[in-house]
Amino acid sequence: MSGPYNITVIPGDGIGKEVMESAIQILKTIKLKKPVQLTFLEAGDECLKKTGTALSDETIQSIKKSDSCLFGAVGETAADVIVKLRQELDLYINLRPVKSYPGVDALYNDIDFIIIRENSEGLYSGGEEEIPDGASATRIISHKGSRRICKWAYDFAKSTNRKQITCVHKANVLKKTDGIFKKSFYELHKKYPNIKVNDLYVDATAMFFITKPEMFDIIVTTNLFGDILSDEGAGLVGGLGLMPSANIGDTIGVFEPVHGSAPDIAGQNIANPCAMILSLALMLNHIGENEIGKIIEKAVISVLSEGETLTPDMGGTSTTEDITNKIIEKILKKA
Ligand code: NAI
Ligand code: MG
Repeated sequence: MSGPYNITVIPGDGIGKEVMESAIQILKTIKLKKPVQLTFLEAGDECLKKTGTALSDETIQSIKKSDSCLFGAVGETAADVIVKLRQELDLYINLRPVKSYPGVDALYNDIDFIIIRENSEGLYSGGEEEIPDGASATRIISHKGSRRICKWAYDFAKSTNRKQITCVHKANVLKKTDGIFKKSFYELHKKYPNIKVNDLYVDATAMFFITKPEMFDIIVTTNLFGDILSDEGAGLVGGLGLMPSANIGDTIGVFEPVHGSAPDIAGQNIANPCAMILSLALMLNHIGENEIGKIIEKAVISVLSEGETLTPDMGGTSTTEDITNKIIEKILKKA
């Protein structure tokens, strides 16, 4: 491929802008196989106030033309921005690694599992409507949607050498919808006999996250369950400031921290940028810059394990800027 990497950057609102600043500094520090062309675009609450729309069609078109997109976080317009982007760009995979980092005060110090969340349908896509005494939401689970996410999970397990996939659902109550999801999961297993599989109800899974998290390797699940379980996963390993994510389709990806705009700490230069920086590393892996992706992750781990430069959410007193500079220092020393 010739020409530079075209990366669309959407900082968003609140701490989204602050943590994006950290990621961009790092992106400008590292050397990739090709030059990087950044296009900054607006979306979110502030964009809505300013322009009357939280996510314009031009922004969607611009992302479609780019190689990849980095996304910070937006506020109250999340449904109109990130959920819409996932649907418009058919980013049907949401990859959320749940990993303990050394030096971080967490419930567990030895966790390393992956949540693969179906990102294009489920309870977030069917829409809501008023009914006589309230409102109702539609939860769409299709054969195609279930098959493609389960297949992606198997292929991911194979390529990353992970051994086991747990399908998480609630098929005892949601017999038709989750019945399809579970059936797709087991049908596809015939093509991947070397991968161990099991399935669990989502409520039991929520408990096992706390009591026996070592039982998980890869989890594949529907949209809402994956959303809730990934925040619970963040709670296991030291908070949202450490949870990166990748929204991936068959071509393009949008890489973002799991957290939101955190209005409670916005503007104070104390947001933890690690989730955003680790999302940048996921983006680099996705565009084939795995080596530098690894260096960035190593640099983050190195700073965390030293335990000297930590933001308040991790028990320290450092600023967003301090920890970013420290991570950059490590990257320059190749971590
Ligand atoms: P949140 O993730 O913004 O914050 C939850 C808690 O975690 C807060 O106490 C916050 O201070 C803390 N936190 C989050 N990220 C942190 C970081 N990097 N460093 C240190 N502490 C951090 O979720 P919340 O409060 O439920 O939502 C706030 C806004 O964000 C809402 O308007 C919501 O709609 C939006 N949101 C947007 C998302 C997105 O853009 N993808 C995702 C989740 C929420
Ligand atoms: Mg969430």
